[in-house]
Amino acid sequence: MAAHKDSDNLDSKFYKSADSFFPSYSGIGLTFDDITLATRYSEILPRETQLDTDLGAGLQLHIPIISSDMDTVTESRMAIAMALNGGLGLIHYNMPDRQQLSEVSRVKHHVHGLIQEPIKVTPDQLIGDVLELIEQKRFAFSTFPVVDDKGKLAGLLPSHVVKPRYAKRKVAEALQPRSQVHTINQKELGKDPIARADKFFTQHLGIHKLLVVDDKDTLHGLITMSDVERITQERRAQFKPARDANFHLLCGAAVSATRNAFGELDRERIVTHVSGLVERGVDVVAVSTAHGHTKGVGDTVKMLRDAFPKLPIIAGNVTSAEGVEFLARAGATAVKVGQGPGSICTTRIVAGVGIPQMTALYVAKQVAAKKKVAVLADGGITKSGDIVKALTLSKGVICGGILAGCTEAPGEVLEIGGKLYKQYRGMGSLAAMKAGSAARYGHEKNPTQKVAPEGVEALKEVAGSVDRVLAQLIGGIQSGMGYLGAANLAQLREKARYIRVSPAGQREAAPHDVVELKTGN
Ligand code: XMP
Repeated sequence: MAAHKDSDNLDSKFYKSADSFFPSYSGIGLTFDDITLATRYSEILPRETQLDTDLGAGLQLHIPIISSDMDTVTESRMAIAMALNGGLGLIHYNMPDRQQLSEVSRVKHHVHGLIQEPIKVTPDQLIGDVLELIEQKRFAFSTFPVVDDKGKLAGLLPSHVVKPRYAKRKVAEALQPRSQVHTINQKELGKDPIARADKFFTQHLGIHKLLVVDDKDTLHGLITMSDVERITQERRAQFKPARDANFHLLCGAAVSATRNAFGELDRERIVTHVSGLVERGVDVVAVSTAHGHTKGVGDTVKMLRDAFPKLPIIAGNVTSAEGVEFLARAGATAVKVGQGPGSICTTRIVAGVGIPQMTALYVAKQVAAKKKVAVLADGGITKSGDIVKALTLSKGVICGGILAGCTEAPGEVLEIGGKLYKQYRGMGSLAAMKAGSAARYGHEKNPTQKVAPEGVEALKEVAGSVDRVLAQLIGGIQSGMGYLGAANLAQLREKARYIRVSPAGQREAAPHDVVELKTGN
């Protein structure tokens, strides 16, 4: 017993809890590489760890990773990939409002169990009209239920007749008649429509579509076999996709605190746009700016909180206790912490401000815990170990650079000197500000060279799919949790013990004195 106590004392003298470690370094800004975490007694295997995180107001993720609202990181493809892996994507706002609305719709409609409002056609339409509709709306499917003018099911238009050669034919001539279409009464779907449909598809060889009708044969939905198979597979995965109550993927969207021609907050535009986002099913909006502890951001958050009392709101960025308190009071659900840590950021160089991430997170966390808001660590993450460290003080991390080389990030692949790259730029770079993000940095709409950019335009080496990158990151987080004996993220926060690392210690932490043949990742 006594020996146990002695070693305990010795450990706690060197490896300190957050509350004794960070205050002892008050006055010094510490970031990820400045510290390391001590290992703890463990009965936890990495693969057994749970990464669920609760960001408040009903916003729950299965992995604590969010893709950044940057125009070279998150549009619908990235947001879909993030949500399918259990995380979240924040669609950026460097695009017309209408386009952001449709980006959100794409995510929300990605995979449905039951498509409650399937796209329908009518018997008197021409196949040519249907082809035009597909082209216009960029549908990735070409099988459509056919309904009459009262919404009654008239048949199914199969994809093999939706061809330009039949453009002049009427849908009525080409449809599979009602008597041959497989349907289920909505009353028979029961509590688990997916399990019911799964059984149906097993029993009906070669049938891939099941239409849902009521007693009057009015169409109420469509279930496809590919959706059912995907969802059934997902249910078996360790990290489930992040979905809403209607089984749609979660999606976030960033909004800016834009001003009108008189320099006042453009209340009408902001509320109208967020109403549109909410109508399309957005699960969270992020009021994203470089300086969140400002009247404009506070007023925007308050206004959105009043207009949408239940909507989760992320706001930022801040690095001070006062800033967190200010945004919490305005009505934020979660605050983004990070000023200048980003891989493309030059805020600290240009403006001389910003706080290294671990210190900023500790300061923010103190107030956040009291005010019951979640802290999100935004920027500066270059490896999974950084995420483990960030999660000891936050509920989630926001990543830009680490995801920007993925296939799902917007932008073309460039080949330079035999290597493949994708563009990655700061939202405060001149090019990004010209494309719309100037308000985020407090500048006029069309900035000129006179404005000092706070970000660079850069390239990231192509990194493969989001699945692959996240698998590496998740593996690293789980490994860290195993070392600390933490079964979940709450235990990780509780068990974290920190020690400062010397410059020699930092060199020791990376591969050294070897010729590397393969990089760690
Ligand atoms: P990482 O390190 O993941 O950082 O690439 C992404 C985060 O950086 C922030 N961001 C910027 N910060 N100037 C800045 O000072 C910029 O131009 C800029 N663009 C993005 C943002 O918080 C993002 O999530």
